Amino acid sequence: MDKLIIEGGRKLAGRVRISGAKNAALPAMAATLLTSGRTVLRNVPGLQDVRTMGRLLGHLGAQYERGTDEYVIDSSKINSHDAPYDLVKTMRASVLVLGPLVARYGEARVSLPGGCAIGARPINLHLMGLEKMGARVELQHGYAHASADRLKGARIYLDIPTVTGTENLMMAAALAKGTTVLENAAREPEVVDLADMLNKMGARIVGAGEGIITIEGVDELHSVTHDVIADRIEAGTFIAAAVITGGDIVLEGAFEGHVEAVIEKFRETGAEFENLLEGLRVIGNGRPRASDLKTMPYPGFPTDMQAQFMAVMSVAEGTSVIQERIFENRFMHAAELKRMGANISIDGAVATVRGIDSLKGAEVMATDLRASASLIVAALAAEGPTTVHRIYHLDRGYEHIERKLEGLGASVERAA
Ligand code: EPZ
Repeated sequence: MDKLIIEGGRKLAGRVRISGAKNAALPAMAATLLTSGRTVLRNVPGLQDVRTMGRLLGHLGAQYERGTDEYVIDSSKINSHDAPYDLVKTMRASVLVLGPLVARYGEARVSLPGGCAIGARPINLHLMGLEKMGARVELQHGYAHASADRLKGARIYLDIPTVTGTENLMMAAALAKGTTVLENAAREPEVVDLADMLNKMGARIVGAGEGIITIEGVDELHSVTHDVIADRIEAGTFIAAAVITGGDIVLEGAFEGHVEAVIEKFRETGAEFENLLEGLRVIGNGRPRASDLKTMPYPGFPTDMQAQFMAVMSVAEGTSVIQERIFENRFMHAAELKRMGANISIDGAVATVRGIDSLKGAEVMATDLRASASLIVAALAAEGPTTVHRIYHLDRGYEHIERKLEGLGASVERAA
């Protein structure tokens, strides 16, 4: 199993290209099921999860080929509506094929994703919405089986602004008969990017990015070329890395509007930001000051940045109280940070982090995607070498991260 060996203590400096967003590329790939013809997705990151989604689409009968940073997907010959357990269990986002398959082919059989390291991750709201649109949904043998002659528009209130739930139902509604209104919908930029792509395909969607999304169903959609937005969580991760090392870097391709909550929070710790033509400049000013945090649905501070923020707070001046309000078990990075000397106490969904002068390098283990990012951020500032094991978690969501970090002056080596 691959590991990363990082020698801490170097200030990051220079420019880094932010890749396309994993969480925008995955729904965009699923959306190709809504039409026949060749859809071209550009700025697609070369990630394990993207390859898994490609395999899933291939399993369903789609043809796809990968260019340098683009995917060409032809869903003209879909011959299966089954998303099997062995694919879904490696990537929960596989559930995103549910809405498009029911909308276009009248049925889908998708393995329930099951829990993951950070929580139970149910999809009850996805299924509730499809039922409201007239689908028959049965849960059997660990699979969700949904079928409908033709989905019909409905008014759907989401108890929680679920991101992939909003995306699934938006895609399903795009081909439904009549108009669907999604209330308390997720507002994430990736939801907006998907709506933009669907509208280019001929859908009629208004309100994406606000709490109420109205989708007027159409009879068919056509293929398009779509550029996936930049990855705001990768950008946030490099912001955390610049702050913890007191560095000065430019994030090429990052869009400030998608990381406002992250910028404001790190400004509170003393970091400075500058919007340049080529991207967002972030300057770490010496030791960060402690600041409290609550993770919230967009536009609040993203849960996917909580672990990275905790790494920075572990060496901040003062004490930071961090509340994780989205997932029920997203503090597993804390135990590994404590092995590096961090002073963190957990009480349910609240972590209290008392900043220390410096972390010490250690052998640590990644447990999930963003926990591994947190350990990388911590290692960049630790005294001595850190070895991060099980970095296959990292490869799911970060493209060539060791190359990008080396390009900024870090000492990072991948070893088997
Ligand atoms: C998306 O997951 C992201 N994944 C996650 O990123 C991200 O952490 C999450 O949104 C929150 O921002 C993708 O976009 C592929 P949710 P998703 O449905 O859609 C509960 C990463 O690191 N819920 O918004 O699965 C759920 O349990 C990943 O890139 C229900 O109860 O998240 C959670 O507590 C990790 N019932 C909360 O809502 C449902 O039907 C938010 O989940 C759906 C969700």
